[in-house]
Amino acid sequence: MGQYVGICGSYEYYFYGYYFQRRERIVEEMNLIVTGGAGFIGSNFIYYELENHPEDRVICLDKLTYAGNLSTLEEAMKSPQFRFVKGDIADRECVEKLFEEEHPDIVVNFAAESHVDRSIEDPGIFLMTNVIGTEVLMDACRKYGIKRYHQVSTDEVYGDLPLDRPDLFFTEETPIHTSSPYSASKASADLLVLAYYRTFRLPVSITRCSNNYGPFHFPEKLIPLMISRALADEPLPVYGKGENVRDWLYVVDHCSAIDLVIRKGREGEVYNIGGHNERTNLEVVKTILRELGKPESLISYVTDRPGHDMRYAIDPGKIHRELGWLPQTKFDDGIHRTVQWYLEHREWWEKILSGEYRNYFDHMYGKRLQQ
Ligand code: NAD
Ligand code: TYD
Repeated sequence: MGQYVGICGSYEYYFYGYYFQRRERIVEEMNLIVTGGAGFIGSNFIYYELENHPEDRVICLDKLTYAGNLSTLEEAMKSPQFRFVKGDIADRECVEKLFEEEHPDIVVNFAAESHVDRSIEDPGIFLMTNVIGTEVLMDACRKYGIKRYHQVSTDEVYGDLPLDRPDLFFTEETPIHTSSPYSASKASADLLVLAYYRTFRLPVSITRCSNNYGPFHFPEKLIPLMISRALADEPLPVYGKGENVRDWLYVVDHCSAIDLVIRKGREGEVYNIGGHNERTNLEVVKTILRELGKPESLISYVTDRPGHDMRYAIDPGKIHRELGWLPQTKFDDGIHRTVQWYLEHREWWEKILSGEYRNYFDHMYGKRLQQ
């Protein structure tokens, strides 16, 4: 089998080392349940699917926690191929009812409590949604039958790498070694997914991606937090010395990778996703300040996060070799586009900042910013 290159019209292209082969694409209409689709990556994925697979139906199941925002899905709501259902992935009755109504072919599980700092404050809800929720979804997949259950996981399950070993990267064989309650809950879910494959032969796949950035990113995470605060000329809270390294990927590149894995990836496999875009937090914050024409004097160093991972860096070789995936967006272009998006969509994030999130910010940063 050649290496999958991509789709053009009704053909798929494969590369065999010396020549390309064109194969007619068999377009099968599918029902996808996308959980957590009112959040950052899930919503971007819904738009990616509606655009690239107009024949498919997409059903979003989301509990609408503080991180879920229905206004994000306003455009999707206009499509007859889209349905939104409010519900909790850990609620068995609700999940089974949805499976009975929709008979999904594919389930892509984005739903999660996703913020490390919140997991340090209150781990319980992370276990409920990220672990029990995954179990409930997979039980429904077993009961009603499924072509693919896909778990959206994170590189944080591998723990961290030292700053002085730039030659080291996470591969799919890197041992699981978690640091925060968030990453421990995601790793637990991954192990459960692989156990369901081995024990029940449930057709599963897992992707482990590095840090994403782009439109609809909730403003408690580094990049949107810094953009929104810099625009208001407020201090930018950088943890520790700002030397921790993250491997940033534009969110649409993550969506294209998941799309490939659910349709072409092998069952029972884990695929790492990343674009070799390592930056220290300080570099990221300074880039944002330059984009906005704001002074570096806004940077305020605050007490470090407990257990703070030093460096994440992904080796995406497997997904490239097997599925031909490569990221399309360079960091400089992606960050420029992201800053522009936040400038053009002020009402989206200003509404969030004016609500419940304000209390969270004061609780988490109030004392740290006064030090
Ligand atoms: P997010 O916090 O922006 O969105 C999470 C969504 O899940 C929200 O819409 C929320 O309402 C929903 N949700 C939470 N609990 C739920 C429940 N019990 N039932 C149904 N819906 C529920 O998260 P995100 O950044 O979009 O991350 C999505 C997934 O990708 C997560 O599984 C995360 O672990 C993973 N991931 C994120 C990143 C990143 O950089 N953000 C990187 C790698 C992997
Ligand atoms: P975050 O966006 O929370 O993602 P993750 O912890 O999953 O990588 O944080 C990215 C990096 O930015 C991380 O090293 C912590 C740091 N950070 C700050 O320095 N200040 C902040 O206010 C936040 C939210 C994060």
